[in-house]
Amino acid sequence: MKVNVLLSPLNADDLYFTGKTTVVIDILRATSVIVTALGNGAREIIPVNTVDFAMKVSGNAFGGQTLLGGERNTKKIEGFALGNSPIEYNTETVKGKSIILYTTNGSKAIVRAKFSENLFICSFGNLNAIAEHLVKLNKDVVIVCSGTNGMFNLEDTICAGKLITEMLKMNEEIELTDASNASVTLNKSFGKSLNKMLSQTEHGKLLIENGFSEDIKICAKLNTHDIIPYYDSGVIKLQKTESEKSVESES
Ligand code: MLT
Repeated sequence: MKVNVLLSPLNADDLYFTGKTTVVIDILRATSVIVTALGNGAREIIPVNTVDFAMKVSGNAFGGQTLLGGERNTKKIEGFALGNSPIEYNTETVKGKSIILYTTNGSKAIVRAKFSENLFICSFGNLNAIAEHLVKLNKDVVIVCSGTNGMFNLEDTICAGKLITEMLKMNEEIELTDASNASVTLNKSFGKSLNKMLSQTEHGKLLIENGFSEDIKICAKLNTHDIIPYYDSGVIKLQKTESEKSVESES
């Protein structure tokens, strides 16, 4: 089993992902929002790569239970019900809802990886659940760091490094690429205090400047949700975790 890390989604085009097992990370804040929303009972998340498409999709069926969420320049978009703060995606607001999500980097990275055979969504909040699931799946993995405007960012790479570190605890034979080794090393150097690390990143500082310091604290929390968000045919839903599967097979 081999694990690679793309330090920016622009390192690959859409067709690269055909047949791959892929994990997308956007810690500040798209994948943290997706994990929070699904963990709090949202029915599904529909990631989109343009605001126009978000508007179009929201005009369609989905049983009248849709919410438009996301950001432009970190702020809520006019006409959208929700911004891109995990705090907004509480149980009361999202339970049973289909959420159409547009964000500057994260939702676009997910859409870019849409041809993957398996496509998972990871944040610090569900890191161990994803690590365990990938090791059981035992397929080569590509981890996509959503980055910032096509550039490298520290927070997504550190999450990739932490994910790989957890996987190595379960299977020390996993083969790493240079980018995977670099991510593991960055996590060793900067991944001890996630809250501090996030506050010092470029995007973290921008979020604090724009009044979103509470988001940093939430996005920094490890393993708050034992869930595996899985993208299939344009929609992200929950897949059963390994612990749920083993409980089922025992009963
Ligand atoms: C993104 O996708 O670029 C982010 O989630 C941006 C943000 O929420 O600040």
